[in-house]
Amino acid sequence: MEKDYGKSLMEKANQATKHAHAPYSKFHVGAALLTEKGNIFTGCNVENASYGLTMCAERNAIFAAVNTEGPDMKIRSIAVAIGNNLPGSPCGACRQVISEFSTRQGAKTEVIYPTRDGIVSKTIDELLPGAFAF
Ligand code: THU
Repeated sequence: MEKDYGKSLMEKANQATKHAHAPYSKFHVGAALLTEKGNIFTGCNVENASYGLTMCAERNAIFAAVNTEGPDMKIRSIAVAIGNNLPGSPCGACRQVISEFSTRQGAKTEVIYPTRDGIVSKTIDELLPGAFAF
């Protein structure tokens, strides 16, 4: 069951890479997340000529989810894909933001991403132990 929705989230993340605006890095990233309420949101990276204004795919997906579900939105699972089947995992900033919206009780938020050895699934606690929280 977990693997099934993980696979479809990866497919949606792959589709989202096609919307990336990445003329500078040419690194097309897509993200797809499943909320605890059962909704799916996607995002892509959006770069800018003023490089520091760039926003990652993961955070664009998360902000879209909060915009629709509100501040109590919780991420059950989030998948990340890179164009041309390149490997890649969420950056530190995105890990911190995922952590903010993670399921703290019960099932841990899972993060699915491609590595050189295939697609892996890790909990956000594994990817960012000791995340900052108030
Ligand atoms: N990028 C993401 O979208 N997500 C990450 O987790 C890491 C990096 C984007 C930002 C930039 O547009 C490009 O990848 C190269 O860094």
